[in-house]
Amino acid sequence: MNILVTGSKGQLGNELQELAPGFPEYQFTFIDIDELDLTDEKKTGTFFQVNSFHGIIHCAAYTAVDKAEKECNQAITLNANVPKQLSEIARSKGMWIIHISTDYVFDGIAFKPYTEEDQVNPLSVYGNSKFEGEAAVLNSKAKGIILRTSWLYSSFSNNFVKTILNKARQGGDLRVVYDQVGTPTYARDLAQTILTLIPEIKKKNKVELFHFSNEGVASWYDFAQSIVELSGIKCNIQPIETKDYSTPATRPLYSVLNKGKIKKQFGIKIPYWRDSLKDCIEKIKTSGTY
Ligand SMILES: NC(=O)c1ccc[n+]([C@@H]2O[C@H](COP(=O)([O-])OP(=O)(O)OC[C@H]3O[C@@H](n4cnc5c(N)ncnc54)[C@H](OP(=O)(O)O)[C@@H]3O)[C@@H](O)[C@H]2O)c1
Repeated sequence: MNILVTGSKGQLGNELQELAPGFPEYQFTFIDIDELDLTDEKKTGTFFQVNSFHGIIHCAAYTAVDKAEKECNQAITLNANVPKQLSEIARSKGMWIIHISTDYVFDGIAFKPYTEEDQVNPLSVYGNSKFEGEAAVLNSKAKGIILRTSWLYSSFSNNFVKTILNKARQGGDLRVVYDQVGTPTYARDLAQTILTLIPEIKKKNKVELFHFSNEGVASWYDFAQSIVELSGIKCNIQPIETKDYSTPATRPLYSVLNKGKIKKQFGIKIPYWRDSLKDCIEKIKTSGTY
């Protein structure tokens, strides 16, 4: 089975590349912007005329949440128009598609974990662009799944874990918000789940929405404390409120995802976020990248 993975140089794409040898039944083609700029509609169309696949794992996205407030068009193009084109190509060619979305489609006023049925109300350009992407994929009449995930980190690329490790090593106190609550998710766990679910996804006759994050709940402050503790770096972290840490994009104060549907339908077990964080930090330490 031939599978195309976009965004191969990002966090999730890199994790998929690393896990791919464990799935020799699939032939993967990994691409990023150097191989194909997905926002070039014409080149993308030609790419699928020349190459044929059974499925697409679409990881490429515009993920700079704050920058998106000023680069609205770029965010919409990559996060909404590109998944629209890819899912329409998938439908016309009979391919399945796995599309990734975000907890930032929610406004965060909930007090219990969000299910797939809960009303979305994005607060940012990024959240809105990802919601438009979801809607386009759902409306495309392709087959596959949309996985909404949250607070992704990895030993690859830049992310919150790397930022905290670097700042902690430089010494001094850190200030991190404690009133935004969600679930950190190790991109490796998401990649493993995606690869494990392929046989189920290819049986789908429509696009279905699922939530996936690691288990448990944390604030960014708790997350930062755990990063420092598990890495063994001494660092004082001060809990602060969102109102005292201004960012261009508004983030939901609460964006915990309910994973009941994916666990029930596919019988998967999901690791607790701190256990996965420990694995990631061990990997970062042994790879000597910090
Ligand atoms: N990161 C999070 O916290 C988070 C949370 C929830 C959901 N998600 C979603 O999860 C998915 C994977 O996220 P991630 O963190 O792995 O993303 P990422 O690390 O930002 O990777 C995205 C990749 O897409 C590439 N790309 C950008 N523009 C492109 C274009 N025009 N054509 C082709 N490729 C292009 C990027 O290249 P450049 O680096 O050169 O731009 C990058 O390698 C995304 O859909 C994201 O929205 C992420």
